[in-house]
Amino acid sequence: MVSVFIDPAIADDARRNRLFAGDIFILSPTAGTRALIGLAREMLEDAFAPHSPLSIHESKTPEEVATILGRIKPQFIHHPECKRIIPQIMLEHGIERDKLYFDVPRLRSAYPSHFLSSGIAYAFHPHRDTWYSAPMFQLNWWLPIYPLEPNNAMGFYPRYFDEGIKNSSETFNYYEWNTTNRATAAAHIRSDTREQPKALQELDPVTVRYLPPPGGIVLFSGAQLHETVRNTTGVARYSIDFRTVHIDDVAKHGGAANVDSRCTGTTLRDYLRASDLAHLPEELIAQYDDDTATTERVLYFGDRLLGNSKP
Ligand SMILES: [Fe+2]
Repeated sequence: MVSVFIDPAIADDARRNRLFAGDIFILSPTAGTRALIGLAREMLEDAFAPHSPLSIHESKTPEEVATILGRIKPQFIHHPECKRIIPQIMLEHGIERDKLYFDVPRLRSAYPSHFLSSGIAYAFHPHRDTWYSAPMFQLNWWLPIYPLEPNNAMGFYPRYFDEGIKNSSETFNYYEWNTTNRATAAAHIRSDTREQPKALQELDPVTVRYLPPPGGIVLFSGAQLHETVRNTTGVARYSIDFRTVHIDDVAKHGGAANVDSRCTGTTLRDYLRASDLAHLPEELIAQYDDDTATTERVLYFGDRLLGNSKP
């Protein structure tokens, strides 16, 4: 059973335990999230002016939009304000900033389905982030920038939280993905040939869509099965997401149960401490290394991301 909490008064430890058991939290906008979506809105609206980002697909070609996104998405990822605002959002939710590590935020777009759904605007098929080398205790924070509709939101498959499904996650190695795929996202405009972990069985098509207001948050375990809903509305959807891990969970190898992830490598080198932007201690990361983490392949991407290749 998956329960959905809306703005509960709850301590961070108890909230994480619920998230690791499959529950989902909807959190109202705060000063921090308003600042974060405000920054993204300004960048989008400047880049697409005089057109609205919501209807840009009516006035530009997919190639033109991909070129613009290829410029502003990395700018957003690297924006110094993001590194100030995310720790603020953690504070607003009662999280100890010296124990919390975050990955840089992504700016996402989902255009009406005939337009642009690959490469820089990849429409993610049903997946768990843990199929892409995320640790079992990763939490995902997802925020819409403009009002959502059910058919341009994210879809969740709660029934599969504790039910394993056939999938190809064993083909995924994080270091290989970083070196071969990441820089090329802007080039995949009309189709996307990058090999990604996928479900290999028919899924029960019942999904749930959570529709917080702009700046509201859907907070969920990286082990939830989720997807980008095929956008059948006439408007583009823009959202921000980032991921966090808590050092206590890293140390005790906590988190959700692993029902079906078999990828190799780990994303643990990507997270930065909310209090001072330090990386996780190397001796802790080493506990998660497998034999794919050779010196020349291990990459520290926290500050050098090129695109939006995270699921
Ligand atoms: Fe994802």
